[in-house]
Amino acid sequence: MSVIVKMEHVTKQFGGLTAVNDFSGEIEKNAIVGLIGPNGAGKTTLFNMIANYYHPTSGKIYFKDQDITEARTEDMARMGLARTFQVTKPFGDMTVLQNIMVGAFLHTTNARQVEQKAREVAGLVGMTCDLDMIANNTTTVDKKKLEIARALAVGPELILLDEVMAGCNPQEKLELVDTCRKVRDAGVTILIIEHDIKTIMSLCDKIYILHRGEKLVEGTPEQVANDKRAISAYLGEDFDNAEN
Ligand SMILES: Nc1ncnc2c1ncn2[C@@H]1O[C@H](COP(=O)(O)OP(=O)(O)OP(=O)(O)O)[C@@H](O)[C@H]1O
Ligand SMILES: [Mg+2]
Repeated sequence: MSVIVKMEHVTKQFGGLTAVNDFSGEIEKNAIVGLIGPNGAGKTTLFNMIANYYHPTSGKIYFKDQDITEARTEDMARMGLARTFQVTKPFGDMTVLQNIMVGAFLHTTNARQVEQKAREVAGLVGMTCDLDMIANNTTTVDKKKLEIARALAVGPELILLDEVMAGCNPQEKLELVDTCRKVRDAGVTILIIEHDIKTIMSLCDKIYILHRGEKLVEGTPEQVANDKRAISAYLGEDFDNAEN
């Protein structure tokens, strides 16, 4: 299986604080990879380095075999990377369709093509509301799908989802798991940050646990669930892996 992202000994310091320490890892093309760990573990910082919001203090990051360690964030969408934000960006007074169309203008200025692309993406994520509805008036789960749709509209090969399921109930999470699977089946690789262990275990092909900026464990959901370090540092003794 080919690799879409490769990180080698990536470290990020903010002043005296080491947010990510010597992280190495790979994201296989067409996989769903989970990034989990306690608050402040460095998950979003890792995303920000892949998206080139920040550059690493040291280490290398490759995207589709190209060294992107020092690339500009504004070039990443064109290279095939899109993301959602942990602190979500407002939808404004625009409709659902208009919100999705914004991203689709990256590749063409032909309004008909842009609208067509936006409608296609809305279908892929499974938006249930009328696409002409004001985005702020939609349900929680449609707002989450819209976050994903806005990112997908730029036509990425890799999408980074930062706690896109936060604030959702179990039923809504199941729906979003289904959305992620459909997105992956459409050929988009996914790296997802999520605190709900059950959700991440059911969704991901591979999981990284970050702990105090360092990679604690890497493996399949089953490997991670049975790892003693993962259980003692993060999953907890009462984590019932038989459930998963
Ligand atoms: N721009 C910044 N400047 C200074 N420190 C930062 C910055 N961004 C993150 N940090 C610090 O780096 C550490 C890792 O933060 P990060 O946001 O990556 O964690 P996280 O794993 O995403 O946590 P959470 O689950 O709460 O979102 C924290 O100690 C945080 O305070
Ligand atoms: Mg975060």
